[in-house]
Amino acid sequence: MARKKFVIGNWKMNLTLGEARELLMQLKPEVESSKANVVFATPFVYLKEVIDIGLKASAQDCSMYTSGAYTGEISTMMLNSIGVNYALIAHSERRQYHHETNEIASAKISQCLHKGITPVYCCGESKEERLAGEHFSVVKNQLKQALASMNLVNTPKIIIAYEPVWAIGTGLTATAEQAQEMHSFIRKTLAEIFSEVHANETSILYGGSVNAGNAAQLMTCNDIDGALVGGASLKAADFTTIIHSVQ
Ligand code: PGA
Repeated sequence: MARKKFVIGNWKMNLTLGEARELLMQLKPEVESSKANVVFATPFVYLKEVIDIGLKASAQDCSMYTSGAYTGEISTMMLNSIGVNYALIAHSERRQYHHETNEIASAKISQCLHKGITPVYCCGESKEERLAGEHFSVVKNQLKQALASMNLVNTPKIIIAYEPVWAIGTGLTATAEQAQEMHSFIRKTLAEIFSEVHANETSILYGGSVNAGNAAQLMTCNDIDGALVGGASLKAADFTTIIHSVQ
């Protein structure tokens, strides 16, 4: 089975409602002519807007709890009830500023799978870890600790995003060789955790300073099935080039 290709725009905490609408309307025809599944990971308050315009929406996070007295939290049931089909899990900014661990990620992934939301599980090493030669073991731990308890039947529903922390928002991108090397390692690790078949069906996206200039080359790599794009997803022209770079 051919793996699905994705381009996910992670808006982070940016844009007003007016700006959000304008960007979505500009991008809609481009999304409709793209070969990739284009998904907008917007702030929670704009998700319904994305869906009403007829585009695919992803939350940037979700609660690890099902429902109840958790002020400020958004559950996967709520996301599902408004038509959201995806959620980013354990983005490095959540790990850094909100102390999210692999265990919390595991609980959130489980919430997603129970409510029909596809989790986009983010993993990746820091600069120090790469310099120390620990990048493979760090990513392996992130995958094993968050995914090992998942039900095999659900695993094709999981998307992995490899985002080296040193490449996020820094303008430093992993080279196509570095990215391909890690993506192939991630696929091998998924085969160990689940099975070869499941590993081969799982889309693995690259993220970290993807832009209009480097997307096409990254997308030629065998194990790169799309991109998770931050800064460049806020600019219509750049994001358009990126979504058309996926064949
Ligand atoms: P960036 O962000 O493209 O701005 O580096 C990527 C991300 O954080 O998902």
